[in-house]
Amino acid sequence: MDYQAVLEEVAAHARPFVRQGRVADYIPALERVSADRFGIAVADIHGEVYGVGDWEVPFSVQSISKTFSLALVMAQSHGGHDDGIWRRVGREPSGTPFNSLVQLEAENGIPRNPFINAGALVVTDRLQTLTGDASTSMLHFLREESGNPDLAFDQAVADSEAEHGDRNAALAHFMASFGNLENPVPSVIEHYFWQCSIEMSCRDLAVAGGFLARHGLRADGSRLLEAREAKRINAVMLTCGTYDAAGEFAYRVGLPAKSGVGGGIIAVIPGRCTLCVWSPGLDARGNSVAGAAALDHFTTLTGWSVF
Ligand code: DON
Repeated sequence: MDYQAVLEEVAAHARPFVRQGRVADYIPALERVSADRFGIAVADIHGEVYGVGDWEVPFSVQSISKTFSLALVMAQSHGGHDDGIWRRVGREPSGTPFNSLVQLEAENGIPRNPFINAGALVVTDRLQTLTGDASTSMLHFLREESGNPDLAFDQAVADSEAEHGDRNAALAHFMASFGNLENPVPSVIEHYFWQCSIEMSCRDLAVAGGFLARHGLRADGSRLLEAREAKRINAVMLTCGTYDAAGEFAYRVGLPAKSGVGGGIIAVIPGRCTLCVWSPGLDARGNSVAGAAALDHFTTLTGWSVF
């Protein structure tokens, strides 16, 4: 496969979709990013990396971080099906927006899945218990997995989200009222905002997500996750990683994927490669418009999907 040629063609296809959608503004610091950006990178399982456009420009990972917090919790506890985290968060698509509160009351404060905000707060809470410093352990983990020691938090984004974080605070307090948080709410939401503020490029994210394509193995061959754990993360990405658009995304793209309101999406082709695409214009469900078009075209051109 000539990845570089495929990426060039994918970028040409996605170009008309760039600037479609809206750059997220509910976290005001995110609005500063130019809507014209587009980048895509592929890291194959052997460590070769290819990219086109703005693939080396850092952007706010936002909800893509939820994939890595779940992986870290699993790696720290080697918890598969029976681990405690799955007693506190489900594995079903929510069919509701990523920051929705409605299901929590009827479902005893147990979020539907680890990728909606409520579920990600539970995972961060668990990571805080396991490590004593959830966001810093995540930053160190991402530096190691991406091979980029310069990765950093964006303080302006973290502060901006905290200033406008009433919804996430409400989710956390509501879950705490059901006894589903181990740490104080202010600490959980602070670590969650910090983890979302980490800046990474398409290159960094495609490389860091390599273990998901290598059935749990890191680039150096050491094991981060059991193969079944990597499978489980990929499965939850497929069914829940793009929120209430997960069905449509599986239909169009056919890959496990995780989006963020910074405009990034990572996608995994198990046994082959990890992709990351970035373009800040979002659709109504919070997923990058040009990013989805690019991944759609990638699987069309290559015939690679999990189906
Ligand atoms: O909690 C929030 O609202 C953001 N920090 C992350 C949301 C997000 O990225 C949803 N993704 N599409």
